[in-house]
Amino acid sequence: MRTMNGFLKRIRFSFILLILVLAACQSDAGSNAADSVSLAGVDDGTIAYEELVVGYSQIGAESEWRTGNTTSIKEAAESLGVELIFSDGQQKQENQIRAIRTFIAQQVDVIGVSPVVETGWDSVFQEAKDAGIPVILVDRRADVAEDLYASYLGSDFVEEGRNAAKVMVDLLGGEGNLVELVGTVGSAPAIDRYAGFREVLQDYPGMKIIASETGDFTRAKGEEVMGDFLRLYGDEIDAVYSHNDDMAIGAIRAIEAYGLKPGEDIKIVSIDAIRDAFQAMIDGKLNATIECNPLLGPQFFELALKVVNGESVPKWIPSEEKIYFPEDAAEILPSRRY
Ligand code: AHR
Repeated sequence: MRTMNGFLKRIRFSFILLILVLAACQSDAGSNAADSVSLAGVDDGTIAYEELVVGYSQIGAESEWRTGNTTSIKEAAESLGVELIFSDGQQKQENQIRAIRTFIAQQVDVIGVSPVVETGWDSVFQEAKDAGIPVILVDRRADVAEDLYASYLGSDFVEEGRNAAKVMVDLLGGEGNLVELVGTVGSAPAIDRYAGFREVLQDYPGMKIIASETGDFTRAKGEEVMGDFLRLYGDEIDAVYSHNDDMAIGAIRAIEAYGLKPGEDIKIVSIDAIRDAFQAMIDGKLNATIECNPLLGPQFFELALKVVNGESVPKWIPSEEKIYFPEDAAEILPSRRY
């Protein structure tokens, strides 16, 4: 059963179409090649944004990045007139799987999902495929066969890890003891940022990762884990590599509570480029942030429309991302949207 809203939208759209066709019939017969071209454009069987019904399974609200991402999806749906059925998975894969099954039962046109972890999606994606509903991966990849999803829209997390490592090598002059705050265990960004960072560090034997623990992408856990690292290694720590800015902000608090200066005594490089990271750079407490763009709403719905209308789309649409340093932070902060 389709959602009632979607059903009403379709009736409304068909009614508008009927009026347009009747109006065209009444118009001057000699007038118009132009009218018939535009009517053909409306009545060519393609779906418009106003008719599109999208089920979207979000991970949760673990970080500022995620909040920005959710806002972008909701605002884009609203402004395009898309009917969005949004579900917050609260960090649990089983909640996301349940949401996807509900979307299938509701016969949505397309499903968007940001998978909390990489594995365990094969069956539910197969169910969507069997129901003829395309799945689009947004922000995070899933480890499934390529025929089970239409496209992946999101970042190159391995490259983000490589970039963080290059910045860290520069900051430490190629030598030092690092601790790492890892993202959610089993998630694509945690796996890839871990790998990309180590790929670059292979060439710098003086750069040693002395501890690596998950902080689950949250400020509270980042602070807690950094506190543990400081109790264990204290002044031996030269730098923190954090898989996201929220955990880095937690680490900043822990370093201050320990009596050291974040950004000076202990260098910090993290990923996302949220507004609070810019403020931390302005305050001299963070040394760099690697951008990971959450503003994917408009691109997602454009992609969804193409997919349901049978247009071919790339298997991966990568986001464009930059690296930001303290010297530019004050100028850039006012224009940051997340
Ligand atoms: O998948 C993107 C990651 O998820 C962001 O880097 C992190 O902040 C978020 O929670």
